[in-house]
Amino acid sequence: MTFLVGENGTGKSTLVEALAVACGFNPEGGSRNFRFATRATESALGDHLVLSRTGRRPRTGFFLRAESYDNVASEIERLDRASGSPLLPAYGGVSPHERSHGESFVDLVTYRFGPDGLYVLDEPEAALSARGCRAVLARLAELAGQGSQIVVATHSPILLALPGATIYEIAENGEIARVDYDQALPVRLTRDFLAAPERFLRHLLTGDG
Ligand SMILES: Nc1ncnc2c1ncn2[C@@H]1O[C@H](COP(=O)(O)OP(=O)(O)O)[C@@H](O)[C@H]1O
Ligand SMILES: [Mg+2]
Repeated sequence: MTFLVGENGTGKSTLVEALAVACGFNPEGGSRNFRFATRATESALGDHLVLSRTGRRPRTGFFLRAESYDNVASEIERLDRASGSPLLPAYGGVSPHERSHGESFVDLVTYRFGPDGLYVLDEPEAALSARGCRAVLARLAELAGQGSQIVVATHSPILLALPGATIYEIAENGEIARVDYDQALPVRLTRDFLAAPERFLRHLLTGDG
């Protein structure tokens, strides 16, 4: 279980997308069977990454990127109608378009994800409430215990609390370092803010921060 954290623009999405592409996923997201493309925006980094494989091949997998999940949802509907065997039951039985954004994410990790899989997630918390994050945290912990490998770019101090996870932080100069939960940027920033919101607001709203 590996997390990537860092400020906006430090390259988390670029890295997880390249990893997903190198692993054979569609750059826009989905399982390895998804081949649709609405607009090719991926960098060429994926072609240059060298994967190090140990142990058995993943039984299944999914690349979830919050920003283009709508297109993945349309592809799930299309495949469900087009293929001989319906696809929706594997996603919890309801089209992601007919669930809220957050509900469809929770459905995805609950029903579609399974043991011995490889899951690459980019900001899954984008659609989730704090309670939704806790549900996803519990499910990811369960999957990790069932032989799945999971790589997540995130800003969520809740998801990062997953026991035993490795957290890498990308600094603004591009350096990558392993950090503890308490040192991780989203945890420090959230803690500091929640401990004294009025202090931050005073700086932010008077413009002297
Ligand atoms: N398609 C692209 N072409 C060129 N630069 C890009 C592209 N997508 C993102 N970038 C730049 O690469 C940097 C890293 O972006 P990104 O990986 O999305 O950051 P993060 O996910 O950490 O917020 C940003 O400075 C961004 O402007
Ligand atoms: Mg990003």
